[in-house]
Amino acid sequence: MLPRSAREQLLGQRGLMVWFTGLSGSGKSTIALGVERELHSRGILCRILDGDNIRAGINAGLGFSAEDRRENIRRIAEVGKLFVDTGVVTLAAFVSPTNEYRQMARDIIGADDFFEIFVSTPLEECERRDVKGLYARARRGEVKDFTGISAPFEVPEHPALTIDTSRQPLEVSVRQVVELIEAAMPHVKT
Ligand code: ADX
Repeated sequence: MLPRSAREQLLGQRGLMVWFTGLSGSGKSTIALGVERELHSRGILCRILDGDNIRAGINAGLGFSAEDRRENIRRIAEVGKLFVDTGVVTLAAFVSPTNEYRQMARDIIGADDFFEIFVSTPLEECERRDVKGLYARARRGEVKDFTGISAPFEVPEHPALTIDTSRQPLEVSVRQVVELIEAAMPHVKT
């Protein structure tokens, strides 16, 4: 099999994982979409992994117990590792609520390729947005083990970047992430 470096040379870019963690509705996927669009326009190949393409497919059988969340994150990290090894800038947007799960993802992917971004938008703002109506249902007790309401979210200890989407516009958040990726990829095509 060809080495990773051969694929990266072919693409003219470096593979890496940008791992967004934060509450449901905090803005993880929205930022990832903006970053993908920006990098794509600069000729950088990206791949977003989020609930829409992972929990609906490969992880369709998993729920939100602690064991299922761990397995969810483990599989995402293993799939993500394949993308990173292919030279792709991979953007994973998952609640990933505990330090243990995030550490597991970091260990699977490799610390040098793993950039953790904490989307720190406060619970009150996520709940006010309630894009999917799940916070209201969780408050009524209709959804159990809901992160931030009836299941824990641990604040990351050493994120590469912290972004509160209630305090700055989307373009600023996207730019901050793009700058972080550029710094990790000095020979990026611009
Ligand atoms: S994780 O905890 O395993 O990392 P993941 O990011 O895949 O979570 O899925 C979170 C999304 O699933 C939320 O944005 C929300 O739309 C939905 N969801 C449904 N039930 C729950 C729940 N009990 N806790 C958190 N999110 C839930």
